Amino acid sequence: METMTKKKVLKTMKPTKTNMTLDELFSLCDNRLKKIFSQYSQEIPSLELKTAMEYTLFNGGKHLRPLLIYATGLIFDAPLENLDIPASSVELVHTYSLIHDDLPCMDNADIRRGKPTCHKAYGEGIAVLAGDALHTLAMQIIASHPSSLKAEKRLQMMCTLSNACGPYGMAAGQALDLTVMNDESISREMLIDIYRLKTGALFAACIEMGRLASRDDDEINQTALQEFGNCIGLAFQIQDDILDTESTTEILGKSQGIDIKNKKITYPHLVGVTPAKEKVQSLYEEALEAVNYLGHKAQLLRELTGHMLQRNR
Ligand code: IPE
Ligand code: IPE
Ligand code: MG
Ligand code: MG
Ligand code: MG
Repeated sequence: METMTKKKVLKTMKPTKTNMTLDELFSLCDNRLKKIFSQYSQEIPSLELKTAMEYTLFNGGKHLRPLLIYATGLIFDAPLENLDIPASSVELVHTYSLIHDDLPCMDNADIRRGKPTCHKAYGEGIAVLAGDALHTLAMQIIASHPSSLKAEKRLQMMCTLSNACGPYGMAAGQALDLTVMNDESISREMLIDIYRLKTGALFAACIEMGRLASRDDDEINQTALQEFGNCIGLAFQIQDDILDTESTTEILGKSQGIDIKNKKITYPHLVGVTPAKEKVQSLYEEALEAVNYLGHKAQLLRELTGHMLQRNR
């Protein structure tokens, strides 16, 4: 992309209202999500379903996806009430994906975030339904959560999110994970395609929806942020796989070594742990390079990216 053109775009952008620190962003995100989720969970007519949904929602997740949405939106001065919509929806979709991912018919995991997985605590039937309900609630929130966000923007968000989590994104990635990732002859390219689908697509959607919540309509920003999202999304899954081989169950809050137990051919398994770590590092550098032209406006997003790179769970 032309640096000159990018400079021109920057000139037309208003200065950021906020110089938020990462810690302030963490508490802002936590508080806003908690408020929205409790609002929606209050009147769920089945106590079992409500409890199972809350059990997984308020359960020590890192909230990285919503954090990315707020950090991206703030670059373009998006109102927080507009950002709340994609931030809460994505966390709901992510939470549903974890509940289903842990089921015996998928990864058969007993622990998540240091506690019994949803189906271990509430049974498989309720866990499946909690996942279904979280997924649907995400779409309901985009369609109808009160905010000044225009109907057209809501529709764009709905398209972005469903594209990332449905049969063209996460659902396909998870299906390929189940059917292809045990194949010793899987290629590096195929594995990367699967990672992009099962994990990367949702991260990329977060970045796009953060921008959509603002008035920005510049294609240069859209393309740069798309590249940023693609890079961090892929890096995130490779990192998850490295942590599975290197960390401990106690730190991870999930069963260390579960990929090996499930005979998954992961990226570090295929290329070695050190080259996998180098790949993660280079993807983060690529991501930061893509948003470099945004200067100090993207400082919070940069810090969040650094925080993701250093994570140990
Ligand atoms: C775990 O995601 C699932 C993957 C896509 C690897 P996170 O590590 O973001 O999960 P929580 O929400 O913080 O527990
Ligand atoms: C999960 O990948 C991807 C999802 C879309 C949920 P993993 O199966 O590696 O995630 P964890 O390690 O269970 O969190
Ligand atoms: Mg899995
Ligand atoms: Mg899993
Ligand atoms: Mg994993």
